[in-house]
Order: sequence, then structure tokens, then C-alpha cells
Amino acid sequence: MANIICGLGTSHGPLLGTPPDMWHLRAEDDRKNPALEYRGEKYGWDQLRKLRRGENLEAQIEQEVKNERHARCQENIANLANHIREVKPDVIVIVGDDQHEWFQPENMPTFAVFYGNHVYNRPPAKKIEKKSKGLAIAAMNYRTPEDVRYETVPDLAMEIIMTAKNEGFDIATSAMIPKGEDGKIGIGHAFGFVQRRICEDDPIPFVPIMLNTFYPPNQATPKRCFQFGNMIAKAIQSWDSDQTVGIVASGGLSHFVIDEEHDARMIEGFKNNDEKAITGEPDKFFRSGTSETKNWITVAGILKESGLSIDTFDYVPCYRSEAGTGNAMGFATWT
Ligand SMILES: [Fe+2]
Repeated sequence: MANIICGLGTSHGPLLGTPPDMWHLRAEDDRKNPALEYRGEKYGWDQLRKLRRGENLEAQIEQEVKNERHARCQENIANLANHIREVKPDVIVIVGDDQHEWFQPENMPTFAVFYGNHVYNRPPAKKIEKKSKGLAIAAMNYRTPEDVRYETVPDLAMEIIMTAKNEGFDIATSAMIPKGEDGKIGIGHAFGFVQRRICEDDPIPFVPIMLNTFYPPNQATPKRCFQFGNMIAKAIQSWDSDQTVGIVASGGLSHFVIDEEHDARMIEGFKNNDEKAITGEPDKFFRSGTSETKNWITVAGILKESGLSIDTFDYVPCYRSEAGTGNAMGFATWT
């Protein structure tokens, strides 16, 4: 029986890899976005600005505030990196979302588990410069300058797959790295970020658990994500291995429109291990980047079964425009 010895949650948004005096580059993308998601509705940037006029969000984008928030995030990332280095799990299970990286609209699994024995991280695609300067500047937070092989853990992945079958989860599996235009596709941003920034390029063998949180119509509900997490815990506990296991949630919290009230309710739920609060927010609140909070919900479902609880949690709302766009960052440890 394997032992879960730690849990970590980390945001991974591009602002974490962008100097704070360049955050406006991502705000430029927001201004062009006609469908900024906020509390279940879609807004253009001007509409959103009007809607949130009373909140004095101008104060949130003063350069000093952005500098302070950026520095606090870097401190949090360093703390998580120190923590995982000290606790030293033999393997980690990373719950992240696939954002049209391995999976495309032709075939979009709700839950997918990779059970091959390695993946690659690869340099960023050249087209990223054209797509968004704000994304390009942060690319090395996720990607490597050259191809780097990361070991994965087929044994544990298989245990999760078999347990899923027995527990009534009809999940997708992946045994081979999909091919892209220029060779095999590098592992997605949610996973690359953890190996690069949290494991500091000293990669820990891992099981990639890939969720579709972003794309309608088949995203799992918060409740189903939590149950999926419970099932993963069961699988880890029945894995016939003496290896120690860490669990990592990658992504979130609210973005590209920050909703501090929604985040506060979720964080309360995580801190109190309160299933009702964790799964009780309306599903329509989990759209766009905010949907990545479902990676945390899944991890909360795993850790609920492990006897661990939240030890540290820091919340850093990083606003980048007066319409309330940005990325609210969360950093947590479960011990
Ligand atoms: Fe993401």
C-alpha cells in the first residue's frame, strides 16, 4: 500500500513568469477578448469595466501593487519548491487541465490518465509569438529550451485506471505521446510548470492526470471532480508499492476575470475539508481559466481520503486591468 505524504496546490498562470511592468501585455489580450467569463456570463472588456466600476480596481493595477503581488508569488513558488525538496515524495500525481495541447476538439476526454513510461517537455511553438506577446514572454515557465525527457509512473497510472473501471468511472487513457506538426507533442503547461518551477528542473516521476476543465460540453461538474479524486486516493492506497506519493493541483484560481468572493468560498472549503463547500459553487462559475480550480477540487477529493489537511495557503490576486482581469493566484500545502 502506497502512502500519500504531501499535497501541493499552485497556480501556473503566465503572469507568474512575466515581469510586473509587462503585465499590460496580457491586458491587451483581454481588451480584444469578446467573451470574458464572469459568474456565468460573457462580457466584452468595456462591458466588464462598466459592470465593475464601483470596485475601484484602478488601485489594484498601480505598479507598486503589481510589483508587491509578483514578488509574493515568487516567494510562494520558492516555498513550495523548498517544501517538495524537503518532503521528497518518490512520485507525484499531477492533476492539470489540457488546454488544446494533447487533446483537440476532434477528441476531448473529460478525464484522461497517461500510462506510458515517459513524456517530453519541449521548446515553445514558434507561433506563440504571433498568438500573444503576453503568453510568449512567459513560455519558459512551462517549456524547456531543448527536449527534456520526464519519467512517468505506468504502474501507478495502471492502478488508477483499473480502480476507475471498478468504481464506475469511464475514463480515457493515453499510452503514447501524440504526434504534432513537428514531432511528438510536449507535455502540457499545467505539468511543465510543476516540473520546471516547483521541482526546479529536478523532475519527479509523475502520473499526468489530464482534465478537460475548459471546453464545453463535457467538462466534469465540481462534484464529479471531487468523486474522481476520492477514486484516485483509493487507487493510490491500493497500489502495491512502498513508494511515497505527493499530490499536486496545478492551475486556477479565478482568471481571466478575478472573482475574489468565489475564490474565498472555495478556499474556505479547501481549508476546512468541507466537501459541501468545495462542490457547492454553481458549475457555470467554473469557466475559462477559473475552470482550473476543478484541478484543485479533484486534489481536495484525493487528499480528503489521505488524512492530510491544509497547512499553508496564500492567495494573491494579480490584477492586470481596471476591468478586473488578471489571475488570482493560490499556493497551498497539505501536510
Ligand atoms: Fe492554465
